[in-house]
Amino acid sequence: MPDYSKYYIAGAFLSGVVLTVAYNRRMSVASSDHKSQDASKQQHKLLSKLSKINDLETLKKTLVELESSIAKGEGDADIKEGIEGCIGNTPLIRIKSLSEYTGCDILVKAEFLNGAGNSPKDRVALSIIEMAEERGLLAPHSGDTVYEGTVGSTGISLAAICRARGYKAHICMPNDMAIEKSDILLKLGAEVERVKPAPIVDQKQFVNLARTRATEHTASTDKPGRGLFADQFETEANWRAHFTGTGPEIYEQTGGSLDAFVSGAGTGGTISGVALFLKSRLPDVKIVLADPPGSGLFNRVKYGVMFDPKEKEGTRRRHQVDTIVEGIGINRVTHNFDVGRELIDDAIRVNDDQATSMARWLVEHDGIFVGSSSAVNCVAATKLAKQLGPGHRIVTLLCDSGARHLSKFWAQTKPVGGAENDVSLEQILSV
Ligand SMILES: Cc1ncc(COP(=O)(O)O)c(C=O)c1O
Repeated sequence: MPDYSKYYIAGAFLSGVVLTVAYNRRMSVASSDHKSQDASKQQHKLLSKLSKINDLETLKKTLVELESSIAKGEGDADIKEGIEGCIGNTPLIRIKSLSEYTGCDILVKAEFLNGAGNSPKDRVALSIIEMAEERGLLAPHSGDTVYEGTVGSTGISLAAICRARGYKAHICMPNDMAIEKSDILLKLGAEVERVKPAPIVDQKQFVNLARTRATEHTASTDKPGRGLFADQFETEANWRAHFTGTGPEIYEQTGGSLDAFVSGAGTGGTISGVALFLKSRLPDVKIVLADPPGSGLFNRVKYGVMFDPKEKEGTRRRHQVDTIVEGIGINRVTHNFDVGRELIDDAIRVNDDQATSMARWLVEHDGIFVGSSSAVNCVAATKLAKQLGPGHRIVTLLCDSGARHLSKFWAQTKPVGGAENDVSLEQILSV
């Protein structure tokens, strides 16, 4: 072998060492989050081959292969680790029609794009499960079962993540919620109990029932594993998921430039968690509650009293919150609402006609097909933009897809048929 080729080999060997170091550094990151396992195996193979090579051509070829394998591995950084890896980092979208009409930037966080249960409840469900795992309260494939009382979204997120982690899910829900939600739950293999809507003092109320079922499971000698009550209304894991996820994401995506955040409240976890984070960075940001009919939160925020006209003696209707809107509105102050209550600056009431008209408007003008709580959020954000005047930036949430509301909310929405059916936004806001 001529002398100069030895230098090439030595040079190539050194490049190999450099690549090895770079590779090892990358591996320590990759292995910590269990990514790129296949690429790693391939790179290990190539590296061990390097030390055995004694001709220049093979060495060069192997180095090129190694280089491209590492480059590919870097591309793999975008591969998500399981369905849990698809939760969070949702896009922030500018709604063109509402922004043009108001002269404000109306931005919506597309929470329906969370990958497990397709709503912001994915963040909460994962947070609840991870917290329970850290405390040793759940063991995979042992029969351990997560019990929850939910109008649907949290149940769907829990059921999906439970499947991914080796747990079972048992969901108690009111029987007047859109049937597609319980259908999805059943397809996710959850046990579903649909119960009559009842006030919270009733032990058969869906949240109380879920708590009881969890206790019964743990006490039972017939059932394997334990029962865990997820407790989304009261658990710290709920608002914290938004404090560490949704809030910081909004802050980063807007570059800290926003005037207001608008959200409905079911458990209150979203509005509290986001408010706690945003106000810590932007003390002047306005936090505004969007509230449907029948909910006591509007008066709680505006006047400090939990009261809705529908609660008046003799006028109380069958359902606790009398609206076709699902997921938001409540008549008690939960821990998750209470945590951020002081930070809520204002509340905007949105009626069912406004919500259905807005849902239709968003399809007609923006091609966005969402559910009832998202429509309420958009009505409130648009109303707020009109109050604040042009030049402001408002962020709200699109919580779930219209596909989950076909049989109830969307069944009461006028047909979507093109521009000739247009109602103006002025009309929608003034209904
Ligand atoms: C579709 C939907 N939107 C919004 C919310 C409200 O979120 P939070 O419980 O964080 O107040 C819920 C709650 O269940 C929901 O199901």
